[in-house]
Amino acid sequence: MKKACIIGYPVKHSRSPVIHGYWLKRHGIEGSYGKEEVKPEDFAAFLKAMPSMGYAGANVTLPHKLDLLALADHCSDGARKIGAANMLWFENGRLHADNTDFVGFIASLDAEAPGWDDRRDVALVLGAGGASRAIVHGLLARGVSRVMVANRTLATAEAMARDFGRAIVPCAWQDAGRYVGEANLIVNTTSLGMSGQPLLDLPLDTAGPETVLADAVYVPLRTALITTAAARGLRAVGGLGMLLHQAVPSFERWFGLRPEVTPELTRLVEADVLGSR
Ligand code: ATR
Repeated sequence: MKKACIIGYPVKHSRSPVIHGYWLKRHGIEGSYGKEEVKPEDFAAFLKAMPSMGYAGANVTLPHKLDLLALADHCSDGARKIGAANMLWFENGRLHADNTDFVGFIASLDAEAPGWDDRRDVALVLGAGGASRAIVHGLLARGVSRVMVANRTLATAEAMARDFGRAIVPCAWQDAGRYVGEANLIVNTTSLGMSGQPLLDLPLDTAGPETVLADAVYVPLRTALITTAAARGLRAVGGLGMLLHQAVPSFERWFGLRPEVTPELTRLVEADVLGSR
């Protein structure tokens, strides 16, 4: 019996058990995926104890994503570049860490806005936190040539330009609207638009008809930004797809089978999101 879990503090809001539980059941795999609430000061000891607890691996969420990077024996290049890791596994007694968020984001675009990368000249990314770094890494890996990063704290966007190179153009938060017209892809990675947070006020009137708009927020399932973009005829991709697709490589790593993001799984997690509001 293989075991995996999500480690966080707090962890009760996590939807990962619903996703992995669905795949375990669907494929008749004898395994489990649980939740482990671990305080930051206990994280290193918990990682050490995991193999003896029978764990093949885990996802990690806040506040452990940076610590995992520091504590792992081996980190993927992607995780290192992004500066955070969200999944781990054990191999020959060594702790491996990776970041699957960027794979999840790109896979959700491929699934929900196929052909989004036919034109890869300019992307406009709002926000410069952990989600932004993962998404920007994914966009560069797919060949997007210029990424405008608009952030409330300009210095954080400037730090991204130093880390990711000259394809990143930092810009002031209040200037974001100026770049809407030239962007092939616009992505919100901030918490604006999330339930309980202020709305993201980004005028989309200059966006071209081929522009794809993605929002990493998935509570609510359709943010005001997504609704506005869809009403303007843009292709709009909500954040739930990123959550579902980032789980695919983790499940494959621990349980040895590449699962699919099915419409049934999407409905199940949508119902979970709606039920918890
Ligand atoms: P995550 O891991 O989800 O990316 P994060 O690293 O805390 O979370 O990043 C949150 C992002 O949302 C940041 O870009 C933050 O901007 P700052 O760097 O200026 O803090 C952005 N953000 C949060 N609240 C915001 C607000 N009210 N207006 C504009 N940007 C906001």
